[in-house]
Amino acid sequence: MARIFITGSADGLGHLAAKALIKLGHEVVLHARNEVRAKQALEKIPGAKEALIADLSSIAETKLLASKANALGSFDVVIHNAGVYQVSGQSVDGLPLLYAVNSIAPYLLTCLMHKPKRLVYLSSGMHLQGNTTLENLPLNIHSESSRITYSDTKLHDVILSMAVARRWADVYSNAVDPGWVPTKMGGTGAPDNLEKGFETQVWLAVSNDPEACVSGKYFHHKRQDHFLPISMDATVQEVFMTKCEKLTGVRLT
Ligand SMILES: NC(=O)c1ccc[n+]([C@@H]2O[C@H](COP(=O)([O-])OP(=O)(O)OC[C@H]3O[C@@H](n4cnc5c(N)ncnc54)[C@H](OP(=O)(O)O)[C@@H]3O)[C@@H](O)[C@H]2O)c1
Repeated sequence: MARIFITGSADGLGHLAAKALIKLGHEVVLHARNEVRAKQALEKIPGAKEALIADLSSIAETKLLASKANALGSFDVVIHNAGVYQVSGQSVDGLPLLYAVNSIAPYLLTCLMHKPKRLVYLSSGMHLQGNTTLENLPLNIHSESSRITYSDTKLHDVILSMAVARRWADVYSNAVDPGWVPTKMGGTGAPDNLEKGFETQVWLAVSNDPEACVSGKYFHHKRQDHFLPISMDATVQEVFMTKCEKLTGVRLT
C-alpha cells in the first residue's frame, strides 16, 4: 500500500485519480482550496484518509500546506494535479493567478514537502506553445510582470519535473499530458477519453511496470511522448528554479 497526496483532488482528474487509487487499496490524502470544498471532496470519496486545505494561489497558504502534509509523515507519491486554465487577475501576492497556482505552488510543495519516492506533475500538450525564454517570469511578489499564459505554466511543470529528475536520482519524477478531457477545466465538449485522462497518473504513482519506473519522462496515455527538449536543458532548468527561488525565498535542496 502506498501513501499518496494529490493536490486539487476535490474535482476533475485529481478527484478521479484519488478514487481509483483508493479502489486499488492505497491510502490517499486529498487537498482542497477551502473547508467547503474539502468537506465535499471527503463526502464524495469516503475512503480518503483526510483532506488538507490550502488556496494554492497564496504563497503563505502553500507553504503552510507543505507543513501540514509533512506533519502526516512522508508520502510515497505526490501528484501535482491542481491547476487553473482561463483565469486572469492576480493572486494575493500580486502574481498572475495562472503562475501562482500552476507553476509556483508545485515548485514550493516540491521544495518543502518530505521527499517522496515518486512525483507526478500534470502538464499539457499546450506546453509546446510555452514561452521558452522564461523572460516573462516575475522575480518579486507585487512586481510588474509580463503576461504569462496557461501554455507557459504547463511548460514550467515539465521543466520542474525534469529538473527534479536530474537533481534527485532516487526519485521517479515525470510529467503527464492527460489529453483534452471533459472536466470542469476541459469543458463538456472535450474530445478525449476521461478514463484515459487519469489512468496514467495512477499508473505512474503505483505501478511496478518497468515502463512506469522511470524518471525524467513525459507521458500521454501511458506512453512516452514528445515534449519540448529545452525542458531537459540544465541551464534552462536552473534559470527557472532560480527565478522561483528569488520569488519565494525557498530553494530546492
Ligand atoms: N481537463 C483537461 O482537458 C486538461 C488538459 C491538459 C492538462 N490538464 C491538467 O490536468 C490538471 C487537472 O485538471 P482538471 O481538468 O481536473 O481541472 P479541474 O476539473 O478544473 O480541477 C482542478 C482542481 O484544481 C483545484 N484548484 C484550482 N485552483 C486552486 C487553488 N487556487 N487552490 C487549491 N486548489 C485549486 C480545483 O479546485 P476547485 O474544484 O475547488 O475549483 C480542482 O480540484 C491541471 O493541472 C490541468 O492543467 C487538464
